[in-house]
Amino acid sequence: MTLLSVNVDHVATLRQARRASYPDVVEAARIAEAAGASGITVHLRSDRRHIQDRDVEVLLDTVKGKLNVEMAATDEMLSIAERLRPQQVTLVPESPEEITTEGGLDLTTHSQRIAEASSRLREAGILVSLFLDPDLAQVEHLVRLGTENITGFEINTDTYTKDSGRGASHHLDTISTVAEAGRAAGFGIYAGHGLTRDNVGPIAALATIEELNIGHYLVARAVMVGLDTAVREMLDAMRTD
Ligand code: PXP
Repeated sequence: MTLLSVNVDHVATLRQARRASYPDVVEAARIAEAAGASGITVHLRSDRRHIQDRDVEVLLDTVKGKLNVEMAATDEMLSIAERLRPQQVTLVPESPEEITTEGGLDLTTHSQRIAEASSRLREAGILVSLFLDPDLAQVEHLVRLGTENITGFEINTDTYTKDSGRGASHHLDTISTVAEAGRAAGFGIYAGHGLTRDNVGPIAALATIEELNIGHYLVARAVMVGLDTAVREMLDAMRTD
């Protein structure tokens, strides 16, 4: 069974829209875990547009499963990770103007920086994942960096989710090939971005992918049916048996 890590960033987006004390990300995380999520993901952005440092601190004490913190490989973020020591950090590219993470890390140009960041995180006892586009060339660079400091990678499903036509199966094949290559090289394989109840099935059916990271759709759906139901519906859609 593929695991589901629920990204609660947009619970914080709603809170920050009014600088209010609600909705509470800790309560959202508790509901998501009680509904069957294997863990919680948050993206601590440099601009702090949704998740705040304090959220990560409190989630560290309250999340029962894996807390995965997405962040850019900046000195500021790495220092926060070293201090707080979440179970896992996913390194992502970040630009101030983007609406959401726009693509995977480019290991052809940033390999050195990522290697250094991963080594710092691993020394602090943190599992390290990289957000990568479904591109075998990226996996080849990753294999050169090795599994000593990088424990897994998350495949960006964005292009797959945006293509509901015949191209979707091509993207799916590419994701499957990349997942298999990564798994064979010893990495943990995760996937996410843009996943919904309608498009998650074929991705969840790929046995090489351990865990999906889903946020925006779940929080949007929660507005209509509540977070507990939204998470349960997603887990049902992910079930392949
Ligand atoms: N994975 C990464 C690296 C992300 O940056 C995001 C968005 O925060 C997600 C997964 C989740 O994407 P979505 O919110 O579209 O489900």
